[in-house]
Amino acid sequence: MAQTWTPNSWRQKPIQQVPDFPDMAALSAAEAQLATYPPLVFAGEARRLKSQLANVSEGKGFLLQGGDCAESFAEHGADTIRDFFRAFLQMAVVLTFGAQQPVVKVGRIAGQFAKPRSSNIEKQGDVELPSYRGDIINGIEFNEKARIPDPERQIMAYRQSAATLNLLRAFAMGGYANLENVHQWMLGFVKESPQAERYRKLANRISETMDFMKAIGITSENHPSLRETDFFTSHEALLLGYEQALTRVDSTSGDWYATSGHMIWIGDRTRQPDHAHIEYCRGIKNPLGLKCGPSLTGDGLIELIDLLNPQNEAGRLTLICRFGHDKVAEHLPRLIRAVEKEGRKVVWSCDPMHGNTITLNNYKTRPFERILSEVESFFQIHRAEGTHPGGIHIEMTGNDVTECTGGARALSGADLADRYHTHCDPRLNADQALELAFLLAERMKGGRDEKRMVVNG
Ligand code: PEP
Ligand code: CO
Repeated sequence: MAQTWTPNSWRQKPIQQVPDFPDMAALSAAEAQLATYPPLVFAGEARRLKSQLANVSEGKGFLLQGGDCAESFAEHGADTIRDFFRAFLQMAVVLTFGAQQPVVKVGRIAGQFAKPRSSNIEKQGDVELPSYRGDIINGIEFNEKARIPDPERQIMAYRQSAATLNLLRAFAMGGYANLENVHQWMLGFVKESPQAERYRKLANRISETMDFMKAIGITSENHPSLRETDFFTSHEALLLGYEQALTRVDSTSGDWYATSGHMIWIGDRTRQPDHAHIEYCRGIKNPLGLKCGPSLTGDGLIELIDLLNPQNEAGRLTLICRFGHDKVAEHLPRLIRAVEKEGRKVVWSCDPMHGNTITLNNYKTRPFERILSEVESFFQIHRAEGTHPGGIHIEMTGNDVTECTGGARALSGADLADRYHTHCDPRLNADQALELAFLLAERMKGGRDEKRMVVNG
């Protein structure tokens, strides 16, 4: 029998990746203050996402999850959010056409602030300081003062998340996402982009379809689904004091929900079954993500699924696989087979970012070809196993940064210095993200044509 869960039962368990707060009274005060603030998201919204993910787990949809590796206080602005949202919607439209299935849209945004680190210290020359752990904990500047964990930052992170969500809700519901606007989205898109022509062609096809639908009486005025879109938020539930403060009982169901975001996930470094992060996540009803890296065995995965989804509820659990382009073939099949053998309902998603990080010219980067290669292998393996490759999880921005190499513009190691802005891991820029979507859409379409040939042949 599992022990009784409470929003703070995680505090009795061993825990990884905790910041060294020098002033525990100030930390408690900040958490107490957060506990009085309104929820950022609502239980009903989390349930809606869960039901969409349930469809994905049954092969009837595709999950697109993406955004910053780490959101930053300094880059909080309307343009950044709009540019991200536009690039993300463009990807979603392309993938919808490719998959011919609904695309479930989940941003790594409005709460993605806390970062696990592989080392507690960062060394520059002879100076050693505590590592940067995300803006919700300490500052990125390399000086002693900035690196001291400051609980007040949690209040800032909450307020930034609220403002970001407010704008995202307006974009999603207020007509910006209207499919009739696909051409307008183009205007903000760099004209000389290598993808511009492809996107224009696709936009033309959508416009033609819309004209046809209008002719038979289906318009965005009488069909809200053409002008509105569901957009959900997600982040890694790493800083558990913050999560606990925003954990609330849903008055409709009496269940506990994390109200810091619609979906939260457990990182690859904090998924020990008897530790604090699994303990916290098992008790809340939100859809959960679990990062699966090379060290996870089939039995280890089933043990975690038993803890996180004992009722085998569809849509509850998304397995976010992040092995590396050269390791995915070695590790993914055993996890798929373990899940299939036990009949567990999961969404299989591919994070082709975190297993493909290399250092080039002193910059952390990720080659576009390796990212694409991991996703392609992920698709092939699922096809061979007869399971549904249900989604992708990427680090991206709507801005024209130079953080990942390759892609149609062939960014090189020498280009990285130009616009390298990330606060943590290297992100795909808008062009590279859209290119990835086009390439995947073409592969999905190819897979369908193949299936059709088998059926008809
Ligand atoms: C992340 O998603 O930013 C991350 C740290 O991932 P992982 O836990 O897979 O390393
Ligand atoms: Co990252």
